[in-house]
Amino acid sequence: MEILIRGEKPADEAVIHDITARAFAPMPYSDGDEQQLIDRFRNAGALELSLVAEQDGAVVGQVTFTRAFAADGSTGWYALGPVAVEPELQSQRIGQQLIEAGLAELRNREAAGCILVGNPEYYQRFGFQGFPELCPDRQPADYFQILPLGVAEPDVVIEFHPLFYAEDDG
Ligand SMILES: CC(C)(COP(=O)(O)OP(=O)(O)OC[C@H]1O[C@@H](n2cnc3c(N)ncnc32)[C@H](O)[C@@H]1OP(=O)(O)O)[C@@H](O)C(=O)NCCC(=O)NCCS
Repeated sequence: MEILIRGEKPADEAVIHDITARAFAPMPYSDGDEQQLIDRFRNAGALELSLVAEQDGAVVGQVTFTRAFAADGSTGWYALGPVAVEPELQSQRIGQQLIEAGLAELRNREAAGCILVGNPEYYQRFGFQGFPELCPDRQPADYFQILPLGVAEPDVVIEFHPLFYAEDDG
């Protein structure tokens, strides 16, 4: 199966919203608002990197990267997620290709590292490691992970972009 990974275009916005909603719908850990989150970041100009997977001309998956913020003010931090693949096409390495392409771009940008909240079993294959002691207050420590890139060993809390909390904060 030939998959092309490329940056999102304006014409992809509706399908990204739709795939994300359907992919997360059955997931017990879903907040049910992952698709709105992507739109919120895009509308705020804070979607740092959005890659789509295209198969036979159709978008079948997407990964989002946003800025993250180290407690000591050091820069170059990113957060991965949401990431979603068309439900019928999952477990065919489309998610993996999206994530690897995104991480390659972060390396090009000489990023300090990347954080996420997700299942450690899935993300450890990309080099993410659990850092419960560096988890931001409002996140689940068991699922908080960091991929160090430019830094050898992260040692401060890395916080997600405030827009992740925009709804909680009203
Ligand atoms: C997570 C997701 C993007 C992965 O994309 P994908 O193309 O299906 O995944 P890949 O083919 O690259 O990898 C498949 C592997 O991931 C595992 N996997 C997929 N989602 C997983 C999850 N949430 N937790 C643990 N393992 C997961 C599969 O069991 C499979 O394992 P294997 O390699 O040992 O067989 C996709 O499954 C998806 O859209 N899921 C629903 C939305 C979601 O949960 N997003 C991530 C939230 S953290």
